[in-house]
Amino acid sequence: MCPRFLKVALWGTALLPFIMGAIAKQEESTSWTLIIGGNTAGYLSPCGCTKPMAGGIRRRATKTEELAQQASFIIETGPIVGVPGRQSELKAETLAESLKAMKVDVLALTSKDLILGEPGIAAVERLSNTSILGTENSSVFVSPKCAVYADGTSPSFTQLNAISRVRELVQTAKERSVPSIYITNFDRDIAIQIAESVPQLDVIIYASKSAPRTGEDRIGETWLLTPGPQGQYVTSITFSGERFESPVINSLGPDVHDHADVSRYYNRYLDRVRSEKLVEMMPKVSDVVYAGTEACRSCHEAEYKIWKGSKHAKAFATLESDKHDADPDCVSCHVVGIESTNGFIVKEKTPQFTDVGCESCHGAGRNHTLKPKEAKMPTLGKEACAKCHNLQHSPTFDFSKYWEKIKH
Ligand code: HEC
Ligand code: HEC
Ligand code: HEC
Ligand code: HEC
Repeated sequence: MCPRFLKVALWGTALLPFIMGAIAKQEESTSWTLIIGGNTAGYLSPCGCTKPMAGGIRRRATKTEELAQQASFIIETGPIVGVPGRQSELKAETLAESLKAMKVDVLALTSKDLILGEPGIAAVERLSNTSILGTENSSVFVSPKCAVYADGTSPSFTQLNAISRVRELVQTAKERSVPSIYITNFDRDIAIQIAESVPQLDVIIYASKSAPRTGEDRIGETWLLTPGPQGQYVTSITFSGERFESPVINSLGPDVHDHADVSRYYNRYLDRVRSEKLVEMMPKVSDVVYAGTEACRSCHEAEYKIWKGSKHAKAFATLESDKHDADPDCVSCHVVGIESTNGFIVKEKTPQFTDVGCESCHGAGRNHTLKPKEAKMPTLGKEACAKCHNLQHSPTFDFSKYWEKIKH
């Protein structure tokens, strides 16, 4: 582990260059591992919708700890959260506790994290026991191992800003005889341009929506690395004392077990989401009146039987067994009519609207149950599935194959 050393704001202090010089010498020839994770964006747990699921902070902590058995420097990139709201605050706190357990050295925030507000960010800093990079007064982190800069939280940060910051970083790193690591919020294409502009840069860590590339990804002498999307990977690379070499993309499949402490934090997070009744507080944007699947049965027995035998009829039980039945991130696609004041609220109050029911596809049908001939249900096509069977939650979805399993 690298001692939390100093932020650029402290550079004026006369003693520091001396201390740093001393430690830098002492550690000069030892090799260490740079460990990069993050881009969590609120995905503490990967969606359980497609097994085997990958990622999640419980596995990431285990893998990070394993990689950090030798000397290491651990970087977490943002964004840590996705959307504004209470659930994101709880997620940020849980992630922060997990980062502490992982002994992360620096956390580089992005403009998306500003939704947490100053108190939220301060809480993350306190709970994570990590140096935060990217806020107004802290963008550079210098340690005996390396010098790190992050683009940070300014929404107006440009590629040109980045290039001049990289130049400064490279200069600082050179003065301290340590490698330079630049964390950018830009994607790989722009990272390449930045690396081409400042060839002395050792590592650039970019933001990516897809899996990290395996093998050596370099522009000249500059390594291009990324944690990939949504906390699904841990990327590592060894610093030999002279240069970085041998990057490894560690994927987080079911073979990586859950970290004990982080699992405890995660379960406590789920308990808090439940006890704060966040599902009940989800916004309602309509008043259409749902009837519930049982209300359709008397007149549509044949369709009902097919539905009852399908996985749609067990969709809520699936969430319950995963302990996500009180989680706003999950219930919307596993119940009927979450968007309406007359649809699913919470299981205790509206048990008739659990599971994916007839009306999850056909739309609210109360009027139709009362006057079937006058209040006709709209005709449906393939598009009825897309709101739930999207790329993220149902990557193998193919209408004709899936319809075959539930046709009625
Ligand atoms: C009281 C009996 C009754 C109930 C209850 C009932 N339906 Fe119907 N449904 C009918 C009849 C009768 C038709 C045929 C209407 C026609 O062809 O004019 C129909 C037709 C439909 C159709 C075909 C489209 C249309 O409107 O013609 C769909 C879809 C449908 N029902 C869905 C549902 C759903 C979903 C529910 C439960 C929310 C439901 N029905 C409850 C009697 C009922
Ligand atoms: C309201 C959200 C929602 C809509 C709309 C929806 N589904 Fe689903 N579907 C789910 C969920 C949730 C599951 C998983 C249920 C479980 O396993 O607990 C699922 C599972 C399935 C399965 C079972 C897959 C398997 O592994 O066997 C099939 C088949 C399926 N859906 C077909 C469809 C089709 C076809 C449509 C459109 C006509 C559709 N679904 C519309 C939410 C939805
Ligand atoms: C956008 C809609 C949507 C959301 C949000 C959603 N799911 Fe699902 N879920 C689905 C669909 C669709 C399926 C069926 C996927 C398939 O079989 O192709 C599914 C299936 C599942 C399954 C069954 C997997 C299996 O292979 O048996 C589990 C477990 C599950 N979801 C858990 C969750 C959890 C936990 C969350 C929240 C973190 C969540 N879902 C959020 C739509 C959703
Ligand atoms: C997963 C989505 C989904 C669910 C759940 C579902 N349906 Fe359907 N249903 C469809 C689609 C899509 C069609 C149109 C299929 C087609 O084009 O042939 C359809 C067709 C029908 C029809 C024939 C009407 C027509 O336009 O041909 C009736 C009646 C019907 N459904 C009733 C029900 C009832 C009752 C339930 C619950 C017991 C139910 N459905 C559950 C998606 C669903």
